[in-house]
Amino acid sequence: MNKLILKNGHVFSPADGLDGRYDILIVDGKISKISEKIDLDGVQIVNLDGYTVFPGFIDLHAHFREPGFEYKEDIESGSRAAVAGGFTTVLVMPNTDPPVDSAEMVDYVLRRAGEVGLINIRPVGAITRGRAGKELADLKLMKEAGAVAFSDDGDWVSNSSVMRRALEYEGPIITHAEDKTLSPGGIMNESSLSYELGIKGIPHQTEEIAVARDILLAELTGGRLHIAHVSSNGSLFFIEYARTRGLNVTAEVTPHHLLFNEEVMRSYDPAYKVNPPLRTEEDRRALIRALKTGLIDVIATDHAPHASFEKEFDLNQAPFGILGLETAFPSLYTQLVMKGELDLGTLVRALSTRPAEIFGFTGKGRIKEGYDADLCVWDLTGKWMVTRDALHSKSSNTPFLGSELTGKLKYTIVGGKVIEL
Ligand code: DOR
Ligand code: ZN
Repeated sequence: MNKLILKNGHVFSPADGLDGRYDILIVDGKISKISEKIDLDGVQIVNLDGYTVFPGFIDLHAHFREPGFEYKEDIESGSRAAVAGGFTTVLVMPNTDPPVDSAEMVDYVLRRAGEVGLINIRPVGAITRGRAGKELADLKLMKEAGAVAFSDDGDWVSNSSVMRRALEYEGPIITHAEDKTLSPGGIMNESSLSYELGIKGIPHQTEEIAVARDILLAELTGGRLHIAHVSSNGSLFFIEYARTRGLNVTAEVTPHHLLFNEEVMRSYDPAYKVNPPLRTEEDRRALIRALKTGLIDVIATDHAPHASFEKEFDLNQAPFGILGLETAFPSLYTQLVMKGELDLGTLVRALSTRPAEIFGFTGKGRIKEGYDADLCVWDLTGKWMVTRDALHSKSSNTPFLGSELTGKLKYTIVGGKVIEL
């Protein structure tokens, strides 16, 4: 039997009623006991004095780019970025080359994840063949192979009949809600600011039209719908409708939509170019409120690595995307929790307990006897500088480059194993 005692950490898991000093005994990868004092002879001990223990974070939305775009990220570098951010389970999106739209490709991702062996990687399969939006992919076969959800992320399944059949057939279906016909060539939120700056706009209705249709299709089919990266206040109105009708609809928000508004585009810095775009301060405030009330269920990073040569020069040419895994917790902790705009409990639940609950990951997302020993340990007073060197991702497209953040990761523990980077 493999045993480990985590000693004297401040254990914080609101879902488990834990907020105090405890020892945690881990046996064979599972949490075996949580108690004020656990002493056993001949057992490895990790002293967590002064540190805080959370359930391991679970990201429902990341891009690891393998296969096809390994120059941006691969399953190994993405896993290392996850570990550095306290994430123990990550769902990887299928917009790779070739895309993950078959059982064989799901197998491939799981085999690579096993070879790397750092964190729990769960593949998301494409909804349509080739992510082309036309024919349904083999969702059942992908599910059998280990896909935990389906998404054409990066593109909306604009054909309502195809989306209807997807929702009837399998789930969860994760929608990238964007009616692109409304915003060709758009780069930032469409507003008086986009006109002032002379940057092509993407109206918030681009998202809301898609969210509304997908919720109506979830109602028609009874299907399981999850809405990716909600960015606008208007979308919340439709999610509220889904809630009151008791539909099987959940939603996520990214750290960047909680932390920035469109004003940052005054810098013309492509680091802020992301899809959906950063919207108004009113939208940002509404997203924080929705997270607090539970209307938005989870925080997902949309970790979207892009190489410097493609991202750092021209705002028009730069691809959309912001890194997320390594800065998610420290940035939200520094800029929202420490400023009193969000409580730590809501943040920790939205990063761990809630994603496990809404996607049905049994044994995950809690600090509880019998649960997997997936944990992250932080020094909540420690500060660090976000530099290219400090990041484990292959890419460095984050607006936090050069900023100091509070909240320093000490250990990420996956299945009872302390992962060394
Ligand atoms: O900004 C984004 N980047 N949004 C997406 O939907 C896709 C992602 C990517 O794959 O780079
Ligand atoms: Zn997306």
